[in-house]
Amino acid sequence: MIIDINGVKFGYSSDQPVLKDVTVKIEGPKFVSILGPNGVGKSTLIHCINKILSPNEGAVLIDGKDVKDISIKEMSKIAGYVPYSANDTFPLTVVDTVMMGRHPHSYRGSLDEDLDIVYDTLEMLGISDLAMRSFNELSAGQHQKVMLARGLAQQPKVLLLDEPTSNLDVRHQLDVSKLLKRMSEEKQILVIMICHDINIAAKYSDEIILMHNGAVFAVGTPKEVITEENLRIVYNVESSVIDDLGSPHVILRDSLPEPNEEASVPKLESAMPESSSV
Ligand SMILES: Nc1ncnc2c1ncn2[C@@H]1O[C@H](COP(=O)(O)OP(=O)(O)OP(=O)(O)O)[C@@H](O)[C@H]1O
Ligand SMILES: [Mg+2]
Repeated sequence: MIIDINGVKFGYSSDQPVLKDVTVKIEGPKFVSILGPNGVGKSTLIHCINKILSPNEGAVLIDGKDVKDISIKEMSKIAGYVPYSANDTFPLTVVDTVMMGRHPHSYRGSLDEDLDIVYDTLEMLGISDLAMRSFNELSAGQHQKVMLARGLAQQPKVLLLDEPTSNLDVRHQLDVSKLLKRMSEEKQILVIMICHDINIAAKYSDEIILMHNGAVFAVGTPKEVITEENLRIVYNVESSVIDDLGSPHVILRDSLPEPNEEASVPKLESAMPESSSV
């Protein structure tokens, strides 16, 4: 499975490009993390891969085929998508919600087979006890696991996840990240995850794509990409990157002023109203 993103440009409006020129080739099976600051275009890029959006210029090729020539139905068998903390509400049980992931395959499998896959997936994520609960009554972390189960039950060749661990406690962040890595190896699929936790990404990913200014700033192994200099340029933070059993581990030191921030933001003391002084 090769996803070839070639000179992709995209803007929600014509005067404000979000993706300015994204070129990167992702070859699986592998566990890949996309990192980058808020608003840099990570979710937008994922949407250009799974055909929710189409690029204004450039192309996304999956195994050599332009996604614009892949039907939505075909795409649903190739790519699973776990959206960012879905606000979606489903007036359904957890089992029925996860069963929606089987939809692209429903013409060939039997209902029993699909149900087995759904229950196995719930078991794998440790949420079998939620099976008969109503999706709308779950906590944010439980929602996230159910949406992840739906993506896994789809058994796609590429799994795209938008911040799949953002609502999980530390233990479950580790569990889900380990599971995603294991899935990429055992099921030989390409797992692409957007993530804000640099240390989780560094510990588990085979490859990291670091975005900056609407483009790919760096791509490579965690060790190649997670450097103090890259973090300074892309995130405007001062950090120390240490070695943790072969993986880079970031200790954040301080935020740096944004370019022009010093000039444009008034100092706190002078911005205080006089009456507030004691
Ligand atoms: N539906 C939309 N309509 C208009 N502008 C949008 C839309 N979705 C996103 N944008 C804008 O496009 C830019 C990139 O957004 P995107 O969601 O891709 O960023 P992101 O890298 O995923 O950020 P975050 O880390 O905060 O999730 C932002 O400036 C955002 O405001
Ligand atoms: Mg996003």
